[in-house]
Amino acid sequence: MAEQPKILIAASEAAPFVKTGGLGDVVGALPRYLERAGAEVRVVLPRYASIDREALGLRRLPGELTVPMGIMGEQRAIVYEGTMPETQIPIYFIDHAPYFGRTGIYEEDGEGYPDNDLRFTFFSRGALELCRMIEFRPDVVHVHDWQTAVIPVLLNTVCRHDPWVGQAASVLTLHNMQHQGWAFKGLMDVLGIGWGHFNPLELEMHDQVNLLKGGLYHATQLNTVSEGYAREIQTPAYGFGLEGVVHDCAWKLRGILNGVDYEEWNPEIDPHLAANYSADDLSGKALCKSDLQRTFRLPERDDVPLIGLVSRLVKQKGVDVLAEAIHRILTLDLQFVLVGNGEPWSHFYFGDIAAAYPEKFAAFIGYDNTRAHQVEAGADFFLMPSRFEPCGLNQMYSLRYGTPPIVRATGGLDDSVVNFAPRSRTGTGFKLTDLSADALFDTIGWATHTWYNDKEGLAALIQNGMAQRFTWERSAQRYLNLFREAMRLRSI
Ligand code: ADP
Ligand code: GLC
Repeated sequence: MAEQPKILIAASEAAPFVKTGGLGDVVGALPRYLERAGAEVRVVLPRYASIDREALGLRRLPGELTVPMGIMGEQRAIVYEGTMPETQIPIYFIDHAPYFGRTGIYEEDGEGYPDNDLRFTFFSRGALELCRMIEFRPDVVHVHDWQTAVIPVLLNTVCRHDPWVGQAASVLTLHNMQHQGWAFKGLMDVLGIGWGHFNPLELEMHDQVNLLKGGLYHATQLNTVSEGYAREIQTPAYGFGLEGVVHDCAWKLRGILNGVDYEEWNPEIDPHLAANYSADDLSGKALCKSDLQRTFRLPERDDVPLIGLVSRLVKQKGVDVLAEAIHRILTLDLQFVLVGNGEPWSHFYFGDIAAAYPEKFAAFIGYDNTRAHQVEAGADFFLMPSRFEPCGLNQMYSLRYGTPPIVRATGGLDDSVVNFAPRSRTGTGFKLTDLSADALFDTIGWATHTWYNDKEGLAALIQNGMAQRFTWERSAQRYLNLFREAMRLRSI
């Protein structure tokens, strides 16, 4: 067997240490499955204030990390080491209080930190400098989204002849094209790679620095988290201005659907639920539904369908369209439970809806993992009307929980859900194509109608969904193939 590659994963989140969304889930799970497939993996994260060194038993590495920051001079960091849960995988935390000793990860009170470009430039350079400190010579550095997208640029420029990382290939995974790491062009002097790289092919865009653009150009290989999204981001509707660049890079771009961590998301063993259940015996699911209704103070009715939604409440997720359609949706005989937080308007808006329809609509505004599990299990349908969705995890969870998803046919939602066909009783969920209040109302109406009038069709739909498996084993194997391809390209 070919020698197994050495992989350094640098990212801004990884569950269970820090998570604001699916990126955290992915970086939390992928290393474990890469290790099981035989790769040697190490992970590096910033040491945010919320990462408790003592509770996690992190060990301080001797010495300090010196991070060159161009005209800002050298800055220093302390490095802590721990292990990824249930693995031998070392995880390193780069600690520099002025950048990471803050309440938030990327923002506070809805406002992004104005120095995010510096924070993640520091982290990215620090992640490469770390290799010398821990004497690790990676074959591939795997980076995620704009926060670490400058790493491929550094590897091709100032680090090209570094004895530890100079030979490393880079793979950039795109989880979201909306956030690109825009910065004042003066950042070029901090990167220290020379103004020659401030050009429209590499880092320059509208006379500013765009870190994601630099990563697209310089990464040895690229991937997104579904094949559908890999196609979509080559078009103006989804590329957020970088569609042309992505299109030019299509030769090195792949789509790899995320896996599901079925050790955490499995109704047969889920400790957060009022009752466990399986595809063979769904009686526990009915108990989960009444428990959910009780928790959310909705009438405990088993004769009404319940729609669940767990999401960041932002435009990406189509919650503005839901807001537009909700009064009409609530004319139907159904119940609705919403768990989420995000844009401030949505907190007030859905809070008001809950007050206006206490028998039908309940909301928890906030982030709560237990409630997320309870909604997956207790709801009859799971709603994701996303404007764009690179992969999406909740629709895959909801399939496993026997809760057919109602999704907009985009990105990973389109790839992982098959539309219900009542005659043949095939499919796993309900899809809308247009993102409009009318289409949303119609599709929810269709699901509700099925719930009331086609019990056999519904049972088939639930069984079809519960039989689906989106395993990390399969996705990790695809990543390994991608890493090998990157190594091959780098060695040419
Ligand atoms: P995204 O990363 O775009 O937010 P994903 O579907 O990939 O979307 O992942 C979202 C993850 O975050 C899921 O694990 C989901 O359960 C979780 N999540 C989102 N909002 C909340 C919330 N308010 N409470 C608990 N979990 C949440
Ligand atoms: C992003 C995307 C989401 C995806 C997640 C993990 O947050 O919005 O669709 O599932 O990354 O890849």
